[in-house]
Amino acid sequence: MEAAVQQALQAISQAANLDQLKEARRLHTGELSAIVAANRAIKTLPGADRAQAGKNMGAAKQRVFAALDQRQAELEAAQLAAQLEQEQVDVTLPTARLTPGARHPLELMQERIADVFTAIGWTIAEGPELEAEWFNFDALNFGPDHPARQMQDTFYVDPPGCGLVLRTHTSPVQARALLTYGVPCYVAVPGKTFRTDELDATHTPVFHQVEGLAVDRGLTMAHLRGTLDHLAQAMFGPEAITRLRPSFFPFTEPSAEMDLRCFICQGEDPACRTCGGSGWIEWGGCGMVDPHVLIACGVDPTEYQGFAFGMGIERTLMFRSGVSDMHDMVEGDARFSLTYGVEV
Ligand code: PHE
Repeated sequence: MEAAVQQALQAISQAANLDQLKEARRLHTGELSAIVAANRAIKTLPGADRAQAGKNMGAAKQRVFAALDQRQAELEAAQLAAQLEQEQVDVTLPTARLTPGARHPLELMQERIADVFTAIGWTIAEGPELEAEWFNFDALNFGPDHPARQMQDTFYVDPPGCGLVLRTHTSPVQARALLTYGVPCYVAVPGKTFRTDELDATHTPVFHQVEGLAVDRGLTMAHLRGTLDHLAQAMFGPEAITRLRPSFFPFTEPSAEMDLRCFICQGEDPACRTCGGSGWIEWGGCGMVDPHVLIACGVDPTEYQGFAFGMGIERTLMFRSGVSDMHDMVEGDARFSLTYGVEV
């Protein structure tokens, strides 16, 4: 027994790695080991010797197992240390890692506006950028000869007469939302829009708008006003107020232009560069949904009323962040986006 234990202890201490230790464990404590054979032989001893032999056996096994446990722990620690040594990383080495992208400020602005509407329970909707002329114009009560349909404003799509345009505003989604969701309907629609403008400091042929549409029983212009003020305050701070001026759109009646109180000078600086001294900044168009639009979308205008509004996202960003040249917004130079911080 003692010889078997000594052999086991020697094999255990000589095991140089965990595999060798496993092999030693198998040879010296496994089914075919001398220790197990001796254990089995105890019952062949005369009764009087068995108790002592059992005790010896227990003590011997304990020594072997303790040695195994200890060596196992030593080898595991050594293996971990070797691994850590081998996988060492020099964190001071210069890297070729690419900097993470920054999302475009216009994208963030659209999300911020969408958040304002989600918070008051509106649905965020989308529509196609390549839009049916019917949605872009006809459903919105643009007569066949309305000047906005003409080539000067609208990007038509080949082949001529295919009935598709690049949408000139987000308003076609008013009709799409009414047809999809029915009434009552509360949707906000941020998205890309297209007009045949040359790129200059204040124009871009591809721009963004956010559309709002609410159709329900008993909605009035007061609800429109309150919604616009809420959005203005969420975007520009608690002091922000809006003003409506009479205007015309084929799809709203009455219609209005909405202005924002100049948040730089509050209307008190005749030389203000942001508002040109007028005290007000043009922000977008709005009005009560024209009954013709409701009828085109299968909604009974004697029962339901609605209001709608649309404003330019580029303009909003220009005001909010003091961007003075549209080129900065469309050129995609990461340095522009990075000044807004990286938000992932
Ligand atoms: N679609 C209009 C535009 O592009 C804005 C607008 C939206 C006006 C909704 C009234 C109601 O100028």
